[in-house]
Amino acid sequence: MNYNLIGKVVLITGAAGGIGAASARALYEAGANLVLTDMSQDSVDQLAREFNEKRVLALALDVTDFEAIKTVVGRVVEQFGKLDILFSNAGISWRRSASTVFSCDEKEFERIVEVDLLGVFRTIKASLPEIIRNKGQVLVTSSTYAFVNGCLNSPYATSKAGIEMLTRSLRSELAGKGATASVLYPGWTSTAIAEVAFGGDPLVTKINKAAYPSLLRQPVSPEKVAEGAVKGLRKRKPRITVPVRWIPLSIMRGVFSIITDWYLEKNPKFHEMLYQLEQDQTT
Ligand SMILES: NC(=O)c1ccc[n+]([C@@H]2O[C@H](COP(=O)([O-])OP(=O)(O)OC[C@H]3O[C@@H](n4cnc5c(N)ncnc54)[C@H](O)[C@@H]3O)[C@@H](O)[C@H]2O)c1
Repeated sequence: MNYNLIGKVVLITGAAGGIGAASARALYEAGANLVLTDMSQDSVDQLAREFNEKRVLALALDVTDFEAIKTVVGRVVEQFGKLDILFSNAGISWRRSASTVFSCDEKEFERIVEVDLLGVFRTIKASLPEIIRNKGQVLVTSSTYAFVNGCLNSPYATSKAGIEMLTRSLRSELAGKGATASVLYPGWTSTAIAEVAFGGDPLVTKINKAAYPSLLRQPVSPEKVAEGAVKGLRKRKPRITVPVRWIPLSIMRGVFSIITDWYLEKNPKFHEMLYQLEQDQTT
């Protein structure tokens, strides 16, 4: 099946970020009309200047605000007459350094879940009447964290696993209505959000090196993720995994979960590094 993107109206959340902006460019190339949304009007206005103004609408939107999302969907219908695709992509992780459940700030934990899990639900809920009416598509940016142990990143991984299940459930619920939903699983991608994990705190970088094989730690470009997203939308694929080296782990997740959970539990070097990180953060 080939879902033609020419003339389709796509609303992107977190559009000013790395994966959002790269996807906006790729979708525009594929012929779609763009609704660019992000926290600040300036950031989406700046991106919108790259495109023909007849094919783009740029609006500030915080995905945790349900009423604001409904207003944006109304504006989209006013301008383009319809909304075909929701790309629910906005997301956050730790602001400064990775933390454990023990050492984290509880308000920050809750804010991450608010944006990454509830923000996705609210965006989907407000867009769904249009997506169903147009037999369209919802694409949700989850992460390989949906199936990888989330230690040091638990609010993020909890949310990414949650929105994976939300999207799978939605896909089944939409099937009889001619609309669909797809999960996007990027591995590490070189964007702002990944900086905390990669470069920020040297101890966190060391812990990540101990926990993940080097092949899986190689970041991909946001353009590569965008390319996968566009291909996946065209085929209305249930799962879009970029880079493909994560696919075996995704398929074998039951077995890998048992092995990685065991490895992390039995690894004294890893425990020592976590202890040190917690000491640094709580003293
Ligand atoms: N970079 C990676 O390694 C990686 C891997 C897997 C999944 N992801 C996911 O990809 C998505 C895009 O992230 P990115 O890598 O482009 O990072 P990014 O930080 O460049 O982009 C995230 C964007 O979301 C926006 N945003 C944050 N809070 C928001 C809110 N409340 N409402 C609306 N917009 C908000 C930010 O302003 C930013 O523009 C996120 O969901 C992220 O979790 C990223």
